[in-house]
Amino acid sequence: MEKTEQLYEGKAKKVFATTDENLCIVSYKDDATAFNGLKKGTIAGKGVVNNRMTNLLMQLLEKAGVPTHFVKELSDRDTLVKKVKIVPLEVIIRNVSAGSFAKRYGVEEGIVFDEPTIEFSYKNDDLGDPLINSYHALALRLATKEEIETIKKYAFKVNEVLKQYFLHLGVKLIDFKLEFGRLTDGTIVLADEISPDTCRFWDAKTNEKLDKDRFRRDMGGVEDAYAEIFKRVTKGE
Ligand code: TMP
Ligand code: ASP
Repeated sequence: MEKTEQLYEGKAKKVFATTDENLCIVSYKDDATAFNGLKKGTIAGKGVVNNRMTNLLMQLLEKAGVPTHFVKELSDRDTLVKKVKIVPLEVIIRNVSAGSFAKRYGVEEGIVFDEPTIEFSYKNDDLGDPLINSYHALALRLATKEEIETIKKYAFKVNEVLKQYFLHLGVKLIDFKLEFGRLTDGTIVLADEISPDTCRFWDAKTNEKLDKDRFRRDMGGVEDAYAEIFKRVTKGE
């Protein structure tokens, strides 16, 4: 399958059309941004890690009954996916307090929740992806009630599968962000990526951060963190 015209360039990926109108090629870049593009940089090799890790996890999730957009890995950075219309909601699941949760509620990071939480952000760069509840999402017609129910069900299932998977690799899955899309027939599938850009991973023994927080917070060792989590994931294959 060949790339035809570029459809879209995001902060971390490009999307190309193909000769098949139902398929696209996603191409992962090393570019990194944070705080809605305010902080910019590159993380050498990130595109390869995020592409290959996303594809491994999407295949694991498909087997567990979560439909995804994944079709085929084409190269280190390029993947063939089903064409979707992205539902403009960022779906965030948390197992442990961190990031904006800790900040918003004035609690420390690292509190293990009895039950995972879910929240939505309205995917809108001009507004800075504001937090939104399901009633507001319905009012804005971002998704239907049925779609929101399906998305919630899949998101918690993804959490169950990935939490176990990462624990076996000596990694705590703290929180993560998912995006879903609609196929042409309206079916909801998991889309976008699942990577150190979109998840918080802490080493199970030391709590060392193995994700993009090292870039967001200028902690150093960014490339090493991506390499380490990638090494564990590929060993766990
Ligand atoms: P938060 O604590 O900053 O709200 O982030 C929650 C999770 O979502 C964390 O794993 C990082 C991920 N995330 C993204 O993938 N994209 C974003 O734009 C933001 C803000 C967070
Ligand atoms: N990539 C996002 C941005 O640039 C934010 C993040 O991941 O922290 O806004």
